[in-house]
Amino acid sequence: MTIDFATHDDLPAMADLLYELFTLEADFHPVREKHLAGLKLILDTPALGRLFVLRVEGNVVGMANALITVSTALGERVVLLEDVIVSRTWRGQQLGRALVEQIFAWARMQGMARVTLLADHDNHTALTFYEKLGFEKSAMVVRRKIL
Ligand SMILES: CC(C)(COP(=O)(O)OP(=O)(O)OC[C@H]1O[C@@H](n2cnc3c(N)ncnc32)[C@H](O)[C@@H]1OP(=O)(O)O)[C@@H](O)C(=O)NCCC(=O)NCCS
Repeated sequence: MTIDFATHDDLPAMADLLYELFTLEADFHPVREKHLAGLKLILDTPALGRLFVLRVEGNVVGMANALITVSTALGERVVLLEDVIVSRTWRGQQLGRALVEQIFAWARMQGMARVTLLADHDNHTALTFYEKLGFEKSAMVVRRKIL
């Protein structure tokens, strides 16, 4: 198993994973071309963040997206962790933990101060997973306006 920054060659497999993720998440509808476009935008604009891929025998079996933003509360750059998914057949083998811990290590090395994420309130698997990784509950709620 390896964890790398994504390359353009990884994008089709990552778009497939996102298709599966956005099928699960209540706020979103999967549209593969849009996922590809979003991934390409991040890959081509490193100031936006980094795409991480998890490979087993060279095949992409997981991914995560570490978007970079700024906390004026902390006065530092912070990460918005998005698009965390491990392919179904590879779940439960500590691969998701390895992926997210690699992102913690990268973010610390970059001097970033915090990692925040959003998850569906009824995605108990993900919420347990994140709790095991040390994420704490927030008092904030999410509101959004589509533009
Ligand atoms: C959430 C997800 C990424 C976890 O990946 P994974 O590789 O199966 O997780 P790991 O094997 O690394 O597990 C790490 C920890 O989480 C716990 N965990 C993982 N899945 C769990 C489950 N279904 N129920 C309870 N605990 C679980 C493990 O017990 C483990 O705890 P430990 O390290 O203390 O032993 C994976 O289930 C997934 O891709 N789900 C679908 C996509 C999704 O919901 N993504 C999150 C969007 S916010």
